[in-house]
Amino acid sequence: MCGIMGYIGDREASRILVDGLRRLEYRGYDSAGVATLVNGHIEVRRTVGKLDNLEKLLATSPLDGTIGIGHTRWATHGPPSEQNAHPHRAGQVVVIHNGIIENYLELKEALVAKGRTFHSETDTEVISQLIDEHMSQGLDFLAAARAAVKQLEGSFAIVVFCDGDKSRLLTAKTATPIVIGLGEGENFVASDIPAILDHTRQVLFLEDGEMAEVTRQGVNVSTFDGEPVEREPRRITWDPITAQKGGFKHFLLKEIHEQPQALIDTMLGRIRQEEGDVWLPELDQLGTEWSNIRRIYLTACGTAWHACLVGKFILEEMARIPVDVDYASELRYRKPIFGPDTMLVAVSQSGETADTLAAVEEAAAAGSKVLSICNVLDASIPRRSRAVLYTHAGPEISVASTKAFTTQLTALYLLSLHVGRQLGRLDEARGRALVHDLVNIPSLIQETLTRGKQLEKIAKKYGHASDFLYLGRGINYPIALEGALKLKEISYIHAEGYPAGEMKHGPIALIDEELPVVVLLPRDPMYAKTLSNLKEVEARGGRIIAITDAPTPDLEEIAWEVVTIPRANHMLAPILLSIPLQMLAYYVACYRGTDVDQPRNLAKSVTVE
Ligand code: G6P
Repeated sequence: MCGIMGYIGDREASRILVDGLRRLEYRGYDSAGVATLVNGHIEVRRTVGKLDNLEKLLATSPLDGTIGIGHTRWATHGPPSEQNAHPHRAGQVVVIHNGIIENYLELKEALVAKGRTFHSETDTEVISQLIDEHMSQGLDFLAAARAAVKQLEGSFAIVVFCDGDKSRLLTAKTATPIVIGLGEGENFVASDIPAILDHTRQVLFLEDGEMAEVTRQGVNVSTFDGEPVEREPRRITWDPITAQKGGFKHFLLKEIHEQPQALIDTMLGRIRQEEGDVWLPELDQLGTEWSNIRRIYLTACGTAWHACLVGKFILEEMARIPVDVDYASELRYRKPIFGPDTMLVAVSQSGETADTLAAVEEAAAAGSKVLSICNVLDASIPRRSRAVLYTHAGPEISVASTKAFTTQLTALYLLSLHVGRQLGRLDEARGRALVHDLVNIPSLIQETLTRGKQLEKIAKKYGHASDFLYLGRGINYPIALEGALKLKEISYIHAEGYPAGEMKHGPIALIDEELPVVVLLPRDPMYAKTLSNLKEVEARGGRIIAITDAPTPDLEEIAWEVVTIPRANHMLAPILLSIPLQMLAYYVACYRGTDVDQPRNLAKSVTVE
């Protein structure tokens, strides 16, 4: 949830740290800080708010030094304040941390009893206090850090350094990620790859229970118990430009427009048009035949959960296996019937969402097979799964998810096709038609993107409303939920998604002349029924905004706005219908002047429960 960056080399550390943090700002942003070692003494600068505030402070109060650490924080313990911002110093030790130390109160009491004084309300400070305490008992820095991490319970990724030790940064992790970037005579530590891409593509990932000593010359990885670990570096192929805004005003708009490419990248190398099939060799890792699977559980949080709701329709239709969908935060605490004949499919953009990770662990422990659909290479969820189907959306910076969502839908479609073909529930001709339809989708998205101007106008016309209602049916009902979520997230307007047929059981009471009602109306067997639901909206004065591939005269007569999109097969319609809803939310947010890419109170990746 927070951003971590560390540097050791011969360049000015503070500049590199702030630049790296900027690439990670989406992970957390209520305060920020950096610390560097200057003439054998660590100096710290911290501010509340965005990185701009930290940059201003550094302009008036610069930091020299060629070794340092930096952090952007999203509060979990204690309110956002300078005092609670990282880095945290105790004696000669300075630390930054992601995650939650679950036993921090216990540790803090013991440290206070030894006469130590705490300066913040954070759980993080116990880490620097513990290490410093061990050093005051005579341990050297490395031994003290090792002793301290062994006492910590919970999830953590830390980077720590110490006064008077110019030679190294130490980093350690359990549940949240650490990546080490390898340079020439310099090395980097970060919580996510985009932070270091400007400097290097050679990286090492730390595994849970490991720590690393990072010097200018190299990296020594070991377990918390001190066992040396051999780890081969990996090469990252992301282009740093893809992690920047390009010509767009916001990352969100850029990412909306990147969807055709993101979908192509997700399909790339996986399509077998001739055979009417897809090629997903990564699924061999599951070590089972699909004929042994009696039930599939789909689980996720937030936007990814909406992808799962659509996935249920697609999987059941193509593969004819019963599918349950659960919020990961619910699944982990109910008693699902997991076993060797069940498959848990966890969907997560970041691969780090704590609830989804916990659901994966529950399912794996209960003997279920676990497959994850994820956008981030080697994140925690993929690492805990038997097999991973990566989406290739590229880095998604804006907090509100767009391209990750539609690539998740694409991956679920690929998966369903694969399973349907494996089980013989889709024949070759049907498979070919389905593959053909999928391959066409990127260009249909491109065409849908041209509706931007119309949606901008609609946003200006209805953007003052205090509530929106979104209606859809069947496979598009989850898209109504996603449209409402997008609007809520970035424009702060209250919005609800409903299955159109349920409207008469409650939400109809909300309808008046102020209420925009966004309805998803593809030409499918539900078209006429939804139209008759809409007549009830019209009769009560509701302002209907229809998104459709079938602008019939009946619809034109009752709708205030009709946005026409291209036609797609019904299982791919959710992808196309998502696009105007993303743009509507975006333009409403712009109209209302909110912080589009970093909406208040939200974080890109929620690595705490
Ligand atoms: C956060 C984000 C959402 C995202 C959800 C799940 O709440 O703000 O946009 O959908 O986490 O994230 P994941 O990385 O697991 O897909």
